[in-house]
Amino acid sequence: MRLFFARNRCMASQLAKNRGVSTVDDYMKTNQEWWNEVAQVHAQGDAYLLKEFKAGMNKLYPLDLEEVGDVAGKKLLHLQCHFGMDTLSWARLGAEVTGIDFAEQAIAIAQSLSQELHLDATFRRSELYNLPNVLNAAGEFDIVYTAYGVICWLPDLRPWGKIIAHYLKPGGFFYIAEGHPFMWVFDEKSPDFKLGYPYFSREPIKDESSGTYAEKDAKLKHATTYGWNHTLSEIFDALLAAGLRIDFFHEHQYGGTKSQDNFPIKLRQNTTVRKFEIIVAGTPAMGFDNPTVGLK
Ligand SMILES: C[S@@+](CC[C@H](N)C(=O)[O-])C[C@H]1O[C@@H](n2cnc3c(N)ncnc32)[C@H](O)[C@@H]1O
Repeated sequence: MRLFFARNRCMASQLAKNRGVSTVDDYMKTNQEWWNEVAQVHAQGDAYLLKEFKAGMNKLYPLDLEEVGDVAGKKLLHLQCHFGMDTLSWARLGAEVTGIDFAEQAIAIAQSLSQELHLDATFRRSELYNLPNVLNAAGEFDIVYTAYGVICWLPDLRPWGKIIAHYLKPGGFFYIAEGHPFMWVFDEKSPDFKLGYPYFSREPIKDESSGTYAEKDAKLKHATTYGWNHTLSEIFDALLAAGLRIDFFHEHQYGGTKSQDNFPIKLRQNTTVRKFEIIVAGTPAMGFDNPTVGLK
């Protein structure tokens, strides 16, 4: 995938159209194999700054910190937590955290980091859609958090919205920071922003890029992934249909990091305050590479 914190899509990417992999379960299995390998590559590589994190660095972006606010004493569920550095960063700020991810290698690394750093955290391996069968904590979280390269791995957002609502306490809120769907239609390898992908499509998009979005030169055994484009209305619809209410919605013209050529978005959903936020970012090529520009 080509999203912020998701892998790059190569020119050979294509709509998958049942080329030997035909069910959602098959797509998930293929993705899971890739992520299992990639979790280890990221934990061993430099890009994720694990050494710095172990030395005390907080891995969360200033935007997320500002928008989510004080988490001390709050119960926070982190969906698609990768190998747990962001989850554990919330724990360092006083949250009681639970992280879930479908890659067992990611969860194993997260658990070992939690032990090594003496940070209390619960990590559970679960495919997102199967979470209610794995984590029996309905209505228990103050905050459900997910960020940067997550919804592109999910074929259908309606059940995702229901799962988010399922875990929120009354008055709790959901927060997402994510790449902007507007950017997902561009061919990321094209310097002049040629259109590469459909905006309206429920088809999986096959990617066979080499390396990962963070470790570009990594040699992987698994090369194939499947991802999905989601429109803004799909995102809104999934959250509204689940009974959540829009808190605020902003679009910003900058990326979370200097090197990301995409448009990150933030959505904040709050079941009581009714605001909803999306933050959109521009590309370095467009001169939008300063994460503080446009911060509200
Ligand atoms: C880009 S990463 C998460 C971003 C996080 N901000 C980071 O960079 O550490 C996406 C994560 O989603 C997980 N994932 C992908 N599809 C999933 C699914 N269907 N269920 C649960 N986790 C999934 C992957 O294992 C991966 O750890």
